[in-house]
Amino acid sequence: MNRDLPENARWLVEAIARALQPRHGTGVAEVLARLADQDVSDGAFRAPEPAGLPVLAHLPQSIGETLLLDADVAAAIAAVEEELCWRQSSSYSDALLGEGFTRNYGWAEIIGPHGFFAGDDFLLGLLMLGPNRHYRDHFHPAPELYWPLTSGSQWSIDGGDFAEVPQGATIWHPPMALHATKTSETPLLAVWCWTRDTGTPAKLAGP
Ligand SMILES: [Fe+2]
Repeated sequence: MNRDLPENARWLVEAIARALQPRHGTGVAEVLARLADQDVSDGAFRAPEPAGLPVLAHLPQSIGETLLLDADVAAAIAAVEEELCWRQSSSYSDALLGEGFTRNYGWAEIIGPHGFFAGDDFLLGLLMLGPNRHYRDHFHPAPELYWPLTSGSQWSIDGGDFAEVPQGATIWHPPMALHATKTSETPLLAVWCWTRDTGTPAKLAGP
């Protein structure tokens, strides 16, 4: 294990908190309050089992784009990128989400059971979605914040029209709200957070 890893993991958590602080989107205050309750001390640190996914081919480009938004967050992600455990929802398949989806999707926990700190019914992580993908309607009991670090992603809530969300804006999904995400030419890298009720995974809507 890289001996700077606990420090770098905490750097990433703190860089995200610092970056969210001045933003006033719905749910940001709840995320920051819950984040402040999490134990990110050296004593709580444990190294995840690093795991990669094909979608990470897009990560360097996305970190480069993140540099333009927040250099501290971008550098902190780069410092831990080799140590993250990238995963996919076990119920997701190309048959359900479109040919090539599983090669273009993945998420990693920063705080959570597979992250650097276990968290107390709280998940903080990164999501990647490759270009020209449609992560269709899904829902979960956990309230969720997304913070896209890259530009060009489109978001739909409650089955409504997709709207492009600018790089650095935040998106809030109340418990059980349907939500979906689309990308065009640019891959999406986003910070996400589940503030509570994290025990039930996301479920795709419909057949
Ligand atoms: Fe979600």
